[in-house]
Amino acid sequence: MERAEDAGVYKISDDLALVQTVDFFTPIVDDPYDFGRIAVTNALSDVYAMGGRPLTALNIVCFPRETMDISILRDILRGGLDQMHEAGVILLGGHTVDDPELKYGLAVTGTIRPDKVVHNTGAKPGDRLILTKPLGTGIISTAIKHGAASKKAIARIVKSMTTLNRAASEAMLEVGVNACKDITGFGLLGHAAEMIQGTGVGMVINAAAVPCFPEAKEYAAKGFVPGAVERNRDYRKEIVDIGKKVPRYMQNIIFDPQTSGGLLIAVPARRAPRLLKTLHEKGVAEAVIIGEVVAEPAGRIRVG
Ligand code: CO
Ligand code: CO
Repeated sequence: MERAEDAGVYKISDDLALVQTVDFFTPIVDDPYDFGRIAVTNALSDVYAMGGRPLTALNIVCFPRETMDISILRDILRGGLDQMHEAGVILLGGHTVDDPELKYGLAVTGTIRPDKVVHNTGAKPGDRLILTKPLGTGIISTAIKHGAASKKAIARIVKSMTTLNRAASEAMLEVGVNACKDITGFGLLGHAAEMIQGTGVGMVINAAAVPCFPEAKEYAAKGFVPGAVERNRDYRKEIVDIGKKVPRYMQNIIFDPQTSGGLLIAVPARRAPRLLKTLHEKGVAEAVIIGEVVAEPAGRIRVG
């Protein structure tokens, strides 16, 4: 294995490899059924980011048996199962541990063609960067925790976080791309940084083109910013240059930790229009070009 990828790949034969990943976390929305669907969508995302097809899964559950009603767990698992059904994934089993803090997620196994694996790195100068989902789920879930999120905002992020990255993954396989990464806890810039690390290329991102939920803008301006935004920014401060004209809320949104975020795809410029068209045709309506890969400055990300 050359470097950290979204999921692990184990080659079985020249045309077949296993792809495996695991992910679980604490609730970020109040509705147990929705949380189950989100956790499953998020866990499957690493397989899609590499161009794989998830096949089977195992539930991972931490549940406070003493203090929480068992019906909550039933709703979470029902949501998870419904989402696995939508993804065509078979649940083979699972394991539950008594734990004071509720957590749910999956270990996932899928298949992938060894010669079709899409890596984190491999972006080339001139590539266009396409992001497939709006940003701001971290900011909006922080507002939820403070009881300040509107029903509309909650519905919006639940819809986004329960949208499988399957269609986006199929589109990028169809068109052929150079690199891909799903956007999760490190935020857009944290994961963009992973795509250029040690590769000798840089990125230029057009802040005005970066899609975000309208409420994320509003809540970020009101100060509902998760602590992870500061950590994510601090971690990448050596390689990120943010232009003075980038609005304050956007400086938070580009580092906002995402749950079940979209794919960030580097595609050769001449194929970018076809990838966008294919994404839109497959229902990935919000996919847009947000920037490009550059030779200079190498190893840096410029946001303007
Ligand atoms: Co990932
Ligand atoms: Co992951």
